[in-house]
Amino acid sequence: MLSKVLVAYGTTNGSTARIAEAVADVLRKEGLTVEALPARSVESVEAYDAVVVGGGLYAGRWHRDARRFVRRHRRALTGRPLWFFSSGPLDATASERDIPPVPGVRRAMVRLDAKEHITFGGCLEEGAKGRIARMIVSSGKGGDFRDFGQIESWAAGIGAQLLAPSPGREPQ
Ligand SMILES: Cc1cc2nc3c(=O)[nH]c(=O)nc-3n(C[C@H](O)[C@H](O)[C@H](O)COP(=O)(O)O)c2cc1C
Repeated sequence: MLSKVLVAYGTTNGSTARIAEAVADVLRKEGLTVEALPARSVESVEAYDAVVVGGGLYAGRWHRDARRFVRRHRRALTGRPLWFFSSGPLDATASERDIPPVPGVRRAMVRLDAKEHITFGGCLEEGAKGRIARMIVSSGKGGDFRDFGQIESWAAGIGAQLLAPSPGREPQ
């Protein structure tokens, strides 16, 4: 039975961590055992039956921790059901249309045979780390564009795929 899911995330300002928690909550409600952990803290993925990896977007790339995670665990990730998400755009576009993965994430999807990727709106608010982040916020271009309805329905889709009886497998 597919039961244990890891949601690993790379974040600088915490907003991707909150998305990962929301994904984990939905999967738990569906009866799966789920851990949401910072990608850099994960030593091994062997104990998990499926993995979701998410990263904030910085200068057109996934957060470094998410990039390192997929590189470091590439062998074990290949062959496990795998989903990716990114969080970034500081406007409503991610709620309105599908935003394709950045090139590095697209390459990782192909390499690791990830099932799906989605881009969620990002969040940048007062207190964010870094000079550029502070400039964005002080110029009025920050805000919280995470769409938790969209996040929850994407997670529900993952749950449905994990819990669907697969051909050749006896119903539990
Ligand atoms: C320096 C900097 C660069 C960013 N670059 C991008 C980018 O290339 N694409 C994008 O969609 N969002 C970009 N963003 C917005 C962040 O991805 C967004 O704030 C995200 O929610 C951050 O996630 P975190 O809070 O988990 O670190 C950038 C933000 C900062 C501060």
